[in-house]
Amino acid sequence: TISQQRLGRRTAAAASRKGQVVALVTYKVAVLGAAGGIGQPLSLLVKMSPLVSDLHLYDIANVKGVAADLSHCNTPAKVEAFTGKDELPAALKDVDLVIIPAGIPRKPGMSRDDLFNINAGIVRDLVDAVAQHAPKALIHIISNPVNSTVPIAAEVLKKRGVFDPARLFGVTTLDVVRANTFVAQQQKQRLIDVDVPVIGGHAGITILPLLSKVKPKTFFESEEIIDKLTTRIQNAGTEVVEAKAGAGSATLSMAYAAARFAESSLRALDGDPDVYECTYIASNLIPDLPFFASRVKLGRMGVEAVLPLEGLSEYEQRALEALKPELKNSIEKGIEFAKEKA
Ligand code: NAD
Ligand code: LMR
Repeated sequence: TISQQRLGRRTAAAASRKGQVVALVTYKVAVLGAAGGIGQPLSLLVKMSPLVSDLHLYDIANVKGVAADLSHCNTPAKVEAFTGKDELPAALKDVDLVIIPAGIPRKPGMSRDDLFNINAGIVRDLVDAVAQHAPKALIHIISNPVNSTVPIAAEVLKKRGVFDPARLFGVTTLDVVRANTFVAQQQKQRLIDVDVPVIGGHAGITILPLLSKVKPKTFFESEEIIDKLTTRIQNAGTEVVEAKAGAGSATLSMAYAAARFAESSLRALDGDPDVYECTYIASNLIPDLPFFASRVKLGRMGVEAVLPLEGLSEYEQRALEALKPELKNSIEKGIEFAKEKA
């Protein structure tokens, strides 16, 4: 029998072992800001995913060429280009996942918050369109300052009556990717084995790698080493901004990280019961901080559980206290903007 149901990959595999023919589930993904420094390599990586049937590339300019180029890759995802506001509703129609890397990047000497004036409005308008045309989609926000753009997105979704905290994510995977790389290098471990949770937010001291919770269990020789690694992870974005010397910020490592987060989200939608990621979400985990990057379990409905913060080292507890005022300010700035200007 041919099942018309949208079955999970695992269920489908089990059914096919029993001799039944079933349709495998695949998903529709839209990338908003697809012609940019992150958007292009991210779209390439998403085009490689066997979980993706349709890839909608949206930008205000230059997206036709990117789509034509990618469409020649012989992987199954069907690529379509959408240019400008008039085509945004069609870009969002029936999509399961919307990834947003639209907005300007930093130049040397700038903070992420210096991007607020331009990027806040971009994220507000794009998320407003998502609220109207893809209200059930998962939304991954990459545009900086993430600490404020995610609260803006939440307010816009609330105004449209479609906010679901389990489906809105600030993408902080690059902090985890960097932490894994730097810790593995410092410890001379195999990179593939190392997993470092990173919590808090996505700017300077709000980025808090939990070096007491590295897997496999890792002992650092001194607090000085912990401090050096923590600072390097917190400043890694600036390291790239300075090396690019005016030509933008991280794009390739970001595309890699965003593709990992997208794949994790789709695997979870597909029924994989063992998907965990760190991400900046709305939660009640920390009093006074309605948004906080945490380790979460992803499932068929988005965030299934937020893992509790337990057993932090004294160093991490101090760092957590220190980041609270800045993160709170950034959250409030985003909420105020959305309340006044949405
Ligand atoms: P970029 O300038 O190369 O690309 C941005 C793209 O967004 C451009 O193609 C532009 O046309 C498009 N765009 C602008 N306004 C738009 C709109 N209203 N609708 C659709 N598209 C629009 O920049 P980039 O290097 O790709 O960086 C994009 C954003 O990602 C920046 O804000 C940057 O700070 C942020 N970023 C976040 C992380 C993270 O870890 N979350 C990492 C790196 C960069
Ligand atoms: C990053 O961490 O690389 C991004 O947030 C971009 C930036 O401005 O540093």
